[in-house]
Parts: sequence; structure tokens; C-alpha cells
Amino acid sequence: MSESRGISRIKGFADLFPPESDAFTRMEACGRDIFTRYGFAELRTPLLEFTGLFQRSIGAETDVVQKEMYTFPDRKGRSVTLRPEATAGVMRACIEAGLADGRGGPQRFFTMGPMFRYERPQKGRMRQFHQINCECLGTESPFADAELIAMLWRFLAALGIRGLTLKLNSLGCATCRPAYMEALRRYLAGVDQNALCEDCRRRAGSNPLRVLDCKHEGCRRLTEGAPRLIDHNCPDCKRHFDTVLELLAQQGISAEIDHRLVRGLDYYCRTTFEVVSGHIGAQTAVAGGGRYDGLTAQLGGPDAPGVGFACGMERLALLLPEVAPARPDCFLVAPDEAGRVQTFALAEALRKLGLACELEYAGGSFKSLMRKAARSSARYCCIIGPDEAAEGRVTLRDMENGEQATLPQAEAPARLADLCAKTPSSPNHNG
Ligand code: HAM
Repeated sequence: MSESRGISRIKGFADLFPPESDAFTRMEACGRDIFTRYGFAELRTPLLEFTGLFQRSIGAETDVVQKEMYTFPDRKGRSVTLRPEATAGVMRACIEAGLADGRGGPQRFFTMGPMFRYERPQKGRMRQFHQINCECLGTESPFADAELIAMLWRFLAALGIRGLTLKLNSLGCATCRPAYMEALRRYLAGVDQNALCEDCRRRAGSNPLRVLDCKHEGCRRLTEGAPRLIDHNCPDCKRHFDTVLELLAQQGISAEIDHRLVRGLDYYCRTTFEVVSGHIGAQTAVAGGGRYDGLTAQLGGPDAPGVGFACGMERLALLLPEVAPARPDCFLVAPDEAGRVQTFALAEALRKLGLACELEYAGGSFKSLMRKAARSSARYCCIIGPDEAAEGRVTLRDMENGEQATLPQAEAPARLADLCAKTPSSPNHNG
């Protein structure tokens, strides 16, 4: 719709109709089921936060903070931002709720919902997109990293998504990373600066890690011989990473070590990972995450180590196997008003027994009503014509073989529930 004629949706923002909205519901339900088996509970945090939260966590030098945030002043002139990711908000919430001090043991939360990044929209990349996000806060055990990755892997398998690759790297810690950064800076200072892209020429000094995952062919060629993170891991980081790899191997989860995997957010240390697919176009990452020890302290809270991930729901939706849309159990029709009042009552009685029903509101000829019943794809049709209405009866039609039977309306709910093999819903369900 053009802007002069009406209000259109904003570029990069989508309306989710079925079947896509059904796919989202399915992913959320599957996530809830799997994550609760691992001790995770749902946390819902606000969509809007003070801008400083993201500057201090994601990093002032990152693309997300520099170019992609929806930031604006509120009515009191304070800078606020629509969340570009969930981790920072979850950390803020845990600090405020006193859950980051480690006294209550690890805190495990999942968060689902919309995130906002002002990126160039394309297939699998939106300005409002949805993440399923999991965080485990309060432990530096490599068992937590491995368990979290295994959980992500189970979740993706339970969704029926195949052909994914798990990539892993270890970014080291505050002890060993500075020496690595120095080695990388030295290496980058020695390459032909003109062959680096403009962004990387700038980043080589300020944020050299990002040069490693630049997509430009020239930069990639120049960094092929760059020092590798895991070769600079200190003994503790090495042991940590080896344990993660061993536990994943124990579960038959194969991972590819990717020396360029540095992630686009600044809070990571040690284990980092991404799950990629070769079937969804240029935006290949369906999930990403890692460890972020030190993040809560950076936000002014206790120093709690943590590890987490987020999946992009739009990208997962592109990979989900198709599921046949749910069809109603019963479609109810009546050619005239007297019968329609009775179909209204019958439909409610059927729904109380757990059947999915659709009611035709209009009258019309038997032929036109049957056409509508067929279009609804319902398994059965209930017809209350003038004679049936007068006698308190209903005709039940099997839409697959056309067989019909007339019975008292009072018997119809039990008969249909039996036919559709439904068990009655709880008796407290509105009587
Ligand atoms: P991220 O890699 O920025 O990590 O995003 C995670 C996933 O969100 C990506 O792999 C992708 O599937 C999806 N995604 C990101 N941007 C878009 C977009 N513009 N359109 C569609 N999908 C997108 C994080 O957000 C971290 N907070 C993950 C994490 C949690 N790390 C630790 N805990």
C-alpha cells in the first residue's frame, strides 16, 4: 500500500500470518519443552532499555552499537534503545533482582521475543526479528558450556532441522587475550594496508578481532596466515575448551573449529560458537553464542561468569519441515436463523469436549453451505435444517465419504468426540 493512500508497515518489519506464525508458535513450544528439561525457566524482560546498557555490554565499537540500534530520547530526554539482543537485558535484570551473586547457584533463563537492529533487510535479515535466547549465569564450568550447546543441538534436532554445522572457537580470557591481540595487531600492521577494506583498516588498531571475520575476499586472503586464537590460549582456557570438546564428542555432536569465529558482540571470552546452514542464502547463522565472564561486573554488578546463545527464529523458520495446517474437527451450518441459534449452542458444547469447530454465520442453499464446509477442510459437518431444528436433531456428515446420519442434538457432542477420538477437557473448563 502506498504511503499516500494508507499506512504501510515499516521496511524490515513483518506481519506474521499463518503458516509462519504457526511455525513460530511451534518453535516456542518446542523450546519451552526442551529447555525446561535442562533446568531453564522463562524470563521476560522489557523491549526498551537505557542506551548505556547496550553500550557497556555489547561494546561501543561494535557495528550493533555504532550503526544498528533504534535509539531515541524519551519524553524526559533520556536516551533509550529498543533491545538489539537479549543478553544485556537478562544480565541487567539478574543484577537488579540479586540473582547474579552466585549464592543461589547457577541461574538459567530463556527469553523469547522481538529484537531490533537497523540492518539492511534481506532474506533472513530483518529490522525486527525474533530470538530464542538462553543464558546460564553463575558458573564457569565447561560442563555448562557443553550442556548448553548440547541443549541447543537437541532443540534444533527436535524441530526436525537437518544439515546444520556447529562451529566453535575459544577467545581466551583476560589473562591470555591481551598477548594474542598484540600478536594480531603486529601481524595486521605488517600486511599491505591498501589490500584491507576501509572498515578493517580502521579496525586493525581498534578492534582487530573483527578483521578475522570480515567477509571481504581481500581481507580474508590477508588474514589466512594470522595468528590463531586457540594457539594463544593459556593453560586454563585450553583445559576449559578441551573439556567442552570432549563432552560434545561424548554426545556425538561434531564441531568444526573455526579460527575466524570471533562474534560481533564484545562481551565474549573463552567458548564461542555458531550454528550455520548452507540452505538459507547469505545469512547463514541460525544461532550464535558463547561465554561472557566479566559481563555482569562490567555492568556494575557482581562478577558472575555466564554462557548463552540465541537462535534467529526467522532463519529457523526457513528451515523447518512443513507441517500440514490444523483442520477443524467440525463445521456447523444452518440454512436459516432458527437452526443457526442451535448450531451456535452445539458448537459451544463440542468445544467444551475439546473439538475444534467453525460456525457458518450465513444461511443459504444446501449446496452453497456444503461448498463452504468443504472449503473449511473440516472432518465432519453438522447440519441443522428447518426440520432438524423443529425436532431438536442434527445431521452429521462425514466430509471424507459423504455418509450422513441424523441424531438428537443432545447426543451429537459425545458421538463426535468419539469419532474424533477426543478426550473431554477438564471439567473446570467453563462448566
Ligand atoms: P547474535 O549472533 O547477534 O548473538 O544473534 C543471534 C542470532 O540471531 C543470529 O545467529 C541470527 O540467527 C539472529 N539474528 C541476528 N540478527 C538478525 C537479523 N537482523 N535478522 C534476523 N535474524 C537475526 C546475540 O544476539 C547474542 N545475544 C547471543 C548470545 C546469548 N550470546 C550469549 N548469550
